[in-house]
Amino acid sequence: MATLEIRDLHVTVEADNATKEILKGVDLTVKQGETHAIMGPNGSGKSTLAYSLAGHPKYTITGGTVTLDGEDVLDMAVDERARAGLFLAMQYPVEVPGVSVSNFLRTSATAIRGEAPKLRTWVKEVKEAMERLNMDSSFAERNVNEGFSGGEKKRHEILQLELLKPKVAILDETDSGLDVDALRIVSEGVNRVRETGEVGTLLITHYTRILRYIKPDFVHVFSGGRIVESGGAELADKLENEGYEAYTKGGVSA
Ligand SMILES: Nc1ncnc2c1ncn2[C@@H]1O[C@H](COP(=O)(O)OP(=O)(O)OP(=O)(O)O)[C@@H](O)[C@H]1O
Ligand SMILES: [Mg+2]
Repeated sequence: MATLEIRDLHVTVEADNATKEILKGVDLTVKQGETHAIMGPNGSGKSTLAYSLAGHPKYTITGGTVTLDGEDVLDMAVDERARAGLFLAMQYPVEVPGVSVSNFLRTSATAIRGEAPKLRTWVKEVKEAMERLNMDSSFAERNVNEGFSGGEKKRHEILQLELLKPKVAILDETDSGLDVDALRIVSEGVNRVRETGEVGTLLITHYTRILRYIKPDFVHVFSGGRIVESGGAELADKLENEGYEAYTKGGVSA
C-alpha cells in the first residue's frame, strides 16, 4: 500500500517584498485506501499545503520532507508527481485554452499509465464515468475549465479522479460552490474511488456538510500553518458545533 508522508513541512511565500512563513511544521500520513479531512479557518494555510504538494513555483519549501512510497516528492517535477500517483485538485483550477476535456484526459491517462489507452475502450470508459457524474456528453468537447461553472469544475475534477485512479488524491474545497445535487454526485464519486480501496484521499474543506456524504477515517484541524489536532469523524461534528475558536485564540491562526 502506498503511503504519502509529510514530515515537519515548512513553506514560505514571497509577498510584498517580504518572505512570509505559511506552513510551520505540517505532519501528516495518508495511506492508500484511507480518507482524511482537513478542516480549518480561512487563511490557515490549507491551500498552501495543497499547492506545495503540487509543486507550485510560488511556494518555497524551507524545511521538512514529503515522500510517496519512500520516494522524495519534493524532488520531482510536477508531471513526475502525477506519474508517481499523486492527484491534486485545486481550489481555483486553471483554464487550458484550446485543449478539450477529452484530449486532456487522454493525455493525462497516457502520461500516468505509461501508454496511450486503447481508443475504443477509452471512449467507453470516459462516457460511462461522465454518465455516473450526470455530465452531458458534449462536455468532453469543451476546453478545460474555460467558462466552466463552479459545479462543472468540480465534476471535471472528480471525472479525472475516477479515470486516472491515483494512489493519493488531494482535493481542495471540492464542496465549495456546489448545489445539493452536485455535492451528492461529487461525494458519490469520491466514495466510489474510495471503495476500490486503492485511493487515499485528503479532503480539504470548511464545511461539515460534505462529511455527511463522505465519512472520513480521520479528521485534522489545521490552524496557524500546522495540524493542531487529529481525531476520528466525531471531531468534524465537534467543529460544526463549536467552530474553530478554541484553536485560533491568542492569534495562533494567520
Ligand atoms: N501566493 C501567495 N502570495 C501571498 N500570500 C499568500 C500566497 N498564498 C498564500 N498566501 C497567504 O498565506 C495564508 C494562507 O493562505 P491559504 O490560501 O493557504 O489559506 P486557506 O487555509 O486555504 O484559506 P481558505 O480557507 O480561505 O481557503 C494567507 O494569509 C494567504 O494570504
Ligand atoms: Mg484554501
